[in-house]
Amino acid sequence: MSAATSFSRLPGFRDFVPEDLALRSHVFGTWRRVARSYGFGEYDGPPLEPLGLYVEKSGEEIVGQLYAFTDKGGREVALRPEMTPTLARMLAERSRGMPKPIRWFSIPQLFRYERSQRGRLREHFQLNVDIVGESGVAADAEVLAVAVDAVRCLGLGEDDFVARVNDRRLVSAVLTAAGVPAGAHAGCLAVIDKAGRAGPERTRAGLDALGLSPGVVEVLAELIADGSPEHLAERFRDTPRVMDAMRPLQEHRSILEAMGLGGFLHFDLTVVRGLAYYTGIVFELFDRAGELRAICGGGRYDRLLELVGGERLSAVGFGMGDVVLGELLRDRGLVPGSAPSCDYYVVWVGPDQRAAGLEIGSRLRAAGHSVMYSLRPQGVGKQLKAANRAGARRAVIIGPDEAAAASATVRDLATGSQETKTLRSLLERETKTPAAGRNP
Ligand code: HAM
Repeated sequence: MSAATSFSRLPGFRDFVPEDLALRSHVFGTWRRVARSYGFGEYDGPPLEPLGLYVEKSGEEIVGQLYAFTDKGGREVALRPEMTPTLARMLAERSRGMPKPIRWFSIPQLFRYERSQRGRLREHFQLNVDIVGESGVAADAEVLAVAVDAVRCLGLGEDDFVARVNDRRLVSAVLTAAGVPAGAHAGCLAVIDKAGRAGPERTRAGLDALGLSPGVVEVLAELIADGSPEHLAERFRDTPRVMDAMRPLQEHRSILEAMGLGGFLHFDLTVVRGLAYYTGIVFELFDRAGELRAICGGGRYDRLLELVGGERLSAVGFGMGDVVLGELLRDRGLVPGSAPSCDYYVVWVGPDQRAAGLEIGSRLRAAGHSVMYSLRPQGVGKQLKAANRAGARRAVIIGPDEAAAASATVRDLATGSQETKTLRSLLERETKTPAAGRNP
């Protein structure tokens, strides 16, 4: 292996050059703004956690993908593959006495040793938004509204993405009504979770492998193919448990319709979520064209806090990844410009004016402007070229005459017009007028 190869980036990890980081910052900025607009407070936790936090709590799929090792103190640890167990641990330690509901959000970097493919990497960032301590369906609707707005505010609309919604309690009622024994429910959920990607043949084979009778497999295959509310209502109209289990979803929909978000909703009986801890309404956001993996996934998990030693508290939330969303934004041309902005480029004619130029630069920066200048002695022509390359809006030129008169020539680099100003008037003006178009 050559030296160059041995230092290449690990598969599934990303470098963020400024253009990529500009998109990431734009996405994070929008996520933060939306989460705060719903009254959520930002938190964070450690990227490394005790391995035990994930074993059993997250479910087999994620545990098989852990970056886990024994640290120098002999502790079994893992890089966090998701944020929900950390949130549960943090709240298990401190939720008693906190006013409820708790509305928290976070944007952690997460690590999963997955097979890298389009939309799936070995590290990703995830917006996590959770409401803890509210069991009513309004909390389920509230987090879904945040998820929709977090994507909508990036410029995507009803034609671009959809929220597929389901309820695990409904699936469980349907499984029971279809004759699936309780012991086979978890196995069935795992098969249903993969049904969209696996297709009818493999799904049927997966159900057969659970040892279900051919009649039960037949019913399930039919429900997976058409699990519309109309079909369910028709098929199970005499099964009160199924009909009752459909009610929370009806209220959920009516709340989101009142918020003007009904057009984003689509009921889908096959959305059950891979993670072990969900207990109620679950949802996933997908691109409408169905070309990409899920943009977001979440739902209600009413027992997790208790499982990690906390008080009995209901919870609901979601995780939205930056990878699929980034692809969608690139596809739709919704990526912000990333040219570095520079308000002023200071040009000094000779080395004697350098100190005056540096002082002016510092004072303009202190007034909130971005300022650049050449880091090596150069002629005026080269400095002005560099100013143009840097995308500077104005050049502040200081020659011997200007320095002697405590003034500078300010040139607008777009129009070429220029005027000579005293340094005092330049600084006075610039401390009052905030520079336009600067990056926040
Ligand atoms: P999750 O479905 O495992 O849920 O992940 C949520 C989202 O994170 C996915 O829809 C996807 O966009 C993104 N994601 C997951 N794995 C990868 C990967 N390997 N590469 C790129 N993106 C990925 C959870 O993690 C739950 N803890 C979410 C939650 C919060 N539920 C309640 N609160």
